[in-house]
Order: sequence, then C-alpha cells, then structure tokens
Amino acid sequence: MNLRDPSHEIEVFERNAPGVTFGWGVVFSDLTVDNITRNDPGSAKTINEELAHWDDIDVHFRGETITSGGHGFIGIGRKRLLEILQDRARALGVALYFNAECDPADAKWRNYDLVIASDGSNSRFRDAQPEAFGVDVDVRANKFVWLGTSKVFDAFTFAFEETEHGWIWAHAYRFAPDCSTFIVECSEETWRSFGFDRMSQDESIASCERLFARYLDGHSLQSNATHLVGSAAWLNFKRIKCERWSSGNVILLGDAAHTAHFSIGSGTKLALEDAIKLADLLNRKGLSLEAALDEYQAERSLEVLKLQNSARNSTEWFETLERYTHFEPLQFAYSLLTRSQRISHENLRLRDREWLETVERWFWKRATEGKSNKTAPPMFAPFKLREMEVMNRVTVSPMAMYSAVDGVPNDFHFVHYGERAIGGAGLVFTEMTCVSPEGRISPGCTGMWNGDHIAAWKRIVDFVHTQSKAKICLQLGHSGAKGSTKLGWEGNDVPLDDGNWPVMAASDVPWSPVNQVPRPMTRADMDTVRDQFVAAVRMGLEAGFDMVELHAAHGYLLAGFISPLQNKRTDEYGGSLENRLRFPLEVFAAMRAAWPKERPMSVRISATDWAGESGITPDEAVLIGEAFAQEGADLIDVSAGQTWAGQQPVYGRMFQTPFSDRIRNEGKLATMAVGNIYEPDHANSILAAGRADLVALARPHLVDPFWTLRAAAALDYREVAVPPQYLNGMAQLARNMKREAEAAAALRV
Ligand SMILES: Cc1cc2nc3c(=O)[nH]c(=O)nc-3n(C[C@H](O)[C@H](O)[C@H](O)COP(=O)(O)OP(=O)(O)OC[C@H]3O[C@@H](n4cnc5c(N)ncnc54)[C@H](O)[C@@H]3O)c2cc1C
Ligand SMILES: Cc1cc2nc3c(=O)[nH]c(=O)nc-3n(C[C@H](O)[C@H](O)[C@H](O)COP(=O)(O)O)c2cc1C
Repeated sequence: MNLRDPSHEIEVFERNAPGVTFGWGVVFSDLTVDNITRNDPGSAKTINEELAHWDDIDVHFRGETITSGGHGFIGIGRKRLLEILQDRARALGVALYFNAECDPADAKWRNYDLVIASDGSNSRFRDAQPEAFGVDVDVRANKFVWLGTSKVFDAFTFAFEETEHGWIWAHAYRFAPDCSTFIVECSEETWRSFGFDRMSQDESIASCERLFARYLDGHSLQSNATHLVGSAAWLNFKRIKCERWSSGNVILLGDAAHTAHFSIGSGTKLALEDAIKLADLLNRKGLSLEAALDEYQAERSLEVLKLQNSARNSTEWFETLERYTHFEPLQFAYSLLTRSQRISHENLRLRDREWLETVERWFWKRATEGKSNKTAPPMFAPFKLREMEVMNRVTVSPMAMYSAVDGVPNDFHFVHYGERAIGGAGLVFTEMTCVSPEGRISPGCTGMWNGDHIAAWKRIVDFVHTQSKAKICLQLGHSGAKGSTKLGWEGNDVPLDDGNWPVMAASDVPWSPVNQVPRPMTRADMDTVRDQFVAAVRMGLEAGFDMVELHAAHGYLLAGFISPLQNKRTDEYGGSLENRLRFPLEVFAAMRAAWPKERPMSVRISATDWAGESGITPDEAVLIGEAFAQEGADLIDVSAGQTWAGQQPVYGRMFQTPFSDRIRNEGKLATMAVGNIYEPDHANSILAAGRADLVALARPHLVDPFWTLRAAAALDYREVAVPPQYLNGMAQLARNMKREAEAAAALRV
C-alpha cells in the first residue's frame, strides 16, 4: 500500500515478539517470486538472494529411494521471510507493534478505515463474525507436527516408514544453508497407537527422531511451537473457506480467508498474492471501495479454488495412503507426484525425461508380463482380460445413439461403430442395448431380443474384427423407471408425447414428477428380466462379441435396485446393500453362466449417487465392485450419478477417476475410468498412477472417432494400428505434430 501511495497510514499489530514465529521453512514457486518482483523489486531482491534452490524429489519407500528431478523448488525460512518483510515495511513508514494481541471486540477497530485481518487460520476476527463471512471449516483426518532440523536435505524428501502401528511419514526440505523443515504425518489411528496422544512434546520429538533416525544422520528434531503443550503440538489440518471475504471495515486475507494443505505448499504464496491484489485494487483510481472489495474476492477466490481443489486431492492422497502401499516403489512415487492432478505425465516428462521413461518401461514390462521393454506411453500398452487382449488401454465408452428402429441397428450404427473401431481404440463398447422392447429407454434404442438384432449386430462385429484390431463389447441393459422417453436430443428423460409403454422398477419411485410411476417388480418379473438378459447374452455370443457388459449404473433398472434413493422395497431385495444387490448380482451370475469362460465380462456401476450419505457412497462402491467381482466380473466400469434427479455432482477434469482409483486399489480389482478424460495426458497419468486399467472416453469420440490415432501422432508412437488405407495421413499428421512440438519446445527454451 505504501509503495503505491506513501500517504497511507498503516499500522501492523502482531501478538508475537519480533523474530518469533510458528513453523519453519516454506516453499515457493518461481511464479510467486516473479509476482513479488513485480510488486516490490526491493523485497524480491533480498528474498532471491536468500532462497534455497533444489531440483530433486526423493521418495523413500520400502527400502528403495526413487529420485526424480526437474522439480525446481525454492524455499526460505518463515522467520527470515518475516524479517525481510518487516524491515521493508519499516523502511516504507509502516508502524509495527509487537507483543500486541488484538481483540476483535475492541472498539478501536471502528476508528480505522480498513482492518486487514491477516491473523492466520485461527483468525479471531473471522471467528467473531462467522455468519457474516460464511465460514466453512473442514478438519482433516491426519495428524501432523511441524518440526525443524539442522540436517540439510539435498532433495525434497518424502520418507515413508511402515511400523507395527501403521504407516508414518515425513515431508522434509531445506530452506536455509543449515536448516530443514521436517513435517511428520500419520493417521489418527497410528498416532493413538503410538501413544503420541499421551506424550509430552519432548517425548513426541524423541520418538520421531528414533523413527526417522536413518534420514537424520544424528541430527536432532526441534519444535518452535512452544505455545502448544503436550500432544497439542500435533495438529489436524483445517481446510478453511469463506463465502465472503469482507464485512464492514474488516477484510480477510491469507489463511484467515482460506487454507491450502501444506502438502502442496501454497499457503504463503496465496497470502502474498492476496495482499498484492488487494493493494492494487485499493489504489486503483476511480474504483469505489465496494467495487474494489468485490473484485478482490472475485479474482482471488478463483485462484484459491483451483489450489484448494488440488490441495484436496493431495490431502486425500495422504489420508488414504494405505490404498497405495501395495504399489511397487516406482509406481508409488509416480502416484505421489501426480496426486494433486496438477502434475501430469507430460509435466513429468518435461521435468525429468529419463525418470519418466523408466516409469514407462516399468509399465510396459508389467503390462506384458515381462515380454516388452518398450519405452512408450502407458495408454498404448496392451491389457488382458481372461483370453481377450486389447491392443491398447483406450476405450470408446458406451453411447446411446437413439437411431434404431424396433431395436435393430442400421447403416448409421454400422458406420458409427466401424469408424470408431478403425480409429485406433483398443476396445469399442456398444450403446446400452436393451434386452426387451419395454426395457428400452426410447423408441430409438438398440436391442437384442430377436434374430434381426443378432444379424444386424453380427454385420457390425464382423466389420470390426476383419477391418480393425479393436475388440467390441456389448453393453446390455434395461431402462426400468427411466424407460419410455424421447430420443436423447428431443429431451433427456422426458416421456413420449404418445405411445408410452408401462414401466417397471424396484419400487414405485418415479424418476421425476413428469415420469411415469413404475410398477414395483414381482418375483415373476425378476425371473422374466433375468432370463431376457441371459437370452441377450446368448445372442451376443452368436453375433460374435468379444465381451459383454451389464449396465447397472445411471438409474436404469438394476441401478434402481442398488440405490437406496430408488429402492424402497421391504422384502429381501430392499433395505441393506446386500439385499439391494441381490437381484443385480443374480442377473450378473446368470449372464456369466451363459457366457464363455474365456471371454470377459464387466459391469458398469454408479460409484456415488452424488447425494451424500443418503445415497450410494464411494465406500459402498468398493463393496459393490467386490460383490460383482465375486460373481465373475473381470472389470468394474466406474461411472457415477444419474441415479437420482436431485444429484449434486462435482464436475471437473477426470472427475470420476477418484472412484475408480478407490475401487481398484482398495478392492484390488481391475477398473475402467470414465468421465471428462479428454487428453492423452489424462489417460497416461491415470494409467501410470494405477488409478485405472483402462480409460473410456465418450464425448471426445463423438466428434473424433480417430482420437487414439491423433494421440499416437502427438506422442510420436508409431506402432498404433492404422488402417493401411490411412497410413499416408497418419504419417503426415505425425510429422506436423512433431514439428509443432519442437517449435513449442524451442519457444519454451
Ligand atoms: C506444516 C505446514 C507447512 C507449511 N508449508 C508451507 C509451504 O511450504 N509453503 C507455503 O507457501 N505455505 C506453507 N504453509 C502454509 C503457510 O504457513 C500459511 O498459509 C501462511 O503462513 C499464511 O500466512 P498468513 O499471513 O495468512 O497467516 P500466518 O502466517 O498464520 O500469520 C498470522 C499472524 O497473525 C498473528 N496473529 C494471529 N492472531 C492474532 C491476534 N489476535 N493478535 C495479534 N496477532 C495475531 C500470528 O501470530 C501470526 O504471526 C504451511 C503450513 C503448515 C501448517
Ligand atoms: C450421447 C451419450 C450417450 C450415452 N449413452 C450411454 C449408454 O448407452 N450407456 C452408458 O453406460 N453410458 C452412456 N453414456 C455415458 C458415457 O458412456 C460416459 O460415461 C459419459 O459421457 C462421461 O464420459 P465423457 O466425459 O468422456 O463423455 C452416454 C453419454 C453420451 C454423451
């Protein structure tokens, strides 16, 4: 503020004495330093001179150290940073008062034009008016203690230790020539089991020194949280969000307004950038105070939201660490590095090509049971389910085309599926193909209930098998309460204008107020539907399909049994999850019995109803996946939602992949991820991190049947299956993309 206009009168109150602070060093990015440089070259120069720089990340796990480079960190001690900023403030005429505890109830604050409450995550000023600021605090599960040590770490170090009490780990990095931050973290269960809850601070520290002795080389650990006694030195991270950042003359800034988990190291950056933006706006000529504050919150909250999203992913990774501890060290490290979804496969290639190629070779070796030593993107590695081998990990997700007459696929379908099969994906799914006329969603849905259907599908399957190397999977479903509706583009889930047929479901719960009230199914109905699925499977075999999927997602008949929001039955098919799964599992088992042993089957599930605890939760999705696997499902196709008209989904890039990750790594099952995966980089990151075994793309394939070939050209992967007729085009595309990539790289240099 005073840099922009020396006539401002600014006073700073700090409860601590000068030079006293909680915590040790903080890391920054180059961008933050650029931002400080633009704001105040003087401070930036001093900060720059004192920054510790390092490039490598070391991950110590199960006796191995995995080192990857190119990460470009800079760090500084919190105390030193405060001293630099305090000196600068003094030089610019700011009055600093130390040992000055501020009480928000004190009447003196009314005399100030503005009170900037930058009083940290436990802000008294914010908590004095929780309603006015719309405060939302989420106390996270793990315990951590922020320590320092004189051991100088050459790399940013993650040290994971398995103990009889569970896993415990340290995040350690150098921030000064003679000092490093050392944060120890573990689950609450491990913490209690160690007895940290009953230890004094000194005992905790001694215990951590013993646990991490091999990394400390005789150096001790220290705490500067002298104000925290006993187990209170251990904290739970609090994620803070505020709906409004100002109230009256009080403006929130930094941790008082928002926090981002320490594992992505961005809290100081956010606080500094808030301050720079606020000072800019308050000094902008012609801008009213009200408009300045609105813009302050609008601009900054967007940045904060992005970081808080990444921070949430990162926090959850550490909270669910045991999901990944069965990984081999290399994949464990990859999963750790990509945990926030801010760093992707190609980012890692830019940082450390050699290391990334080691990961790619490892992936290919695993994918081919040691036969291939290829260094190539994971998405092109083969995958085997029973005796079916797909040539790569890209799948064309099932998509209803609403273009059949009496359920018979026609020339549109022939071209549509044929084109996607020659487009390079390893596996092509049919749309939801219905097992009976009344099991259709719309009059345009494809079916599999008579000889015409077998013949029409066989023509498509034969084309796929003779003209491409793709495999083709038949998705079978029944619409249940969501049946008898218009074609997709005429209105989603809207009943027909005329000619509606009666619908049935688990219970008499209509999909929405405008949809029919379905007839609750009797046991005889269940027998009929189960037999229709089995008959459809046999027809699928006649048509030559490589694989069959049962559609038990998205609110259709079987999903309606699984979700407590649609299933209100009081018999053995309703109530507990076990009961709700009974009929879907019976159908699956009957289909499996009719399908050849050597051919795989999958099931598509909705891993959440997006309805909080009142619907299916991701925890239950693991149990659902396991239950189908027990009946012989080889792959869980993990979708989400569309099971309840009031769903509250949280969209974003790869937004459903965390559910696949959970089912795969907690249930130890093969999974397919789907949902807003659209870049080759997404696919490679998901696969290499072990978040799924296959990736499915739906909408990207609608406009680009050749998505996989384009990805191969972009990644310069030559061994993709290109139809011979198209080889020239592929070669030219690859050349052009390579040239463009080289030009972009030259620009970066
Ligand atoms: C373990 C851990 C590691 C972290 N590592 C990093 C990292 O590597 N990089 C990074 O960018 N961020 C990191 N952070 C986050 C970072 O520390 C905070 O985001 C940052 O300090 C926020 O700055 P702030 O000024 O808003 O709040 P604070 O730094 O908390 O400052 C608030 C100040 O207000 C004073 N105060 C509070 N109440 C009163 C009162 N009533 N009267 C007078 N004074 C008062 C406090 O004494 C304190 O000095 C980490 C956080 C933790 C917990
Ligand atoms: C036009 C269209 C039709 C769809 N039909 C089906 C379907 O028949 N069966 C199914 O399981 N999912 C269906 N889906 C969902 C997709 O398979 C996929 O899960 C969803 O679109 C998210 O993936 P995306 O972000 O790659 O599009 C359909 C999606 C679209 C866009």
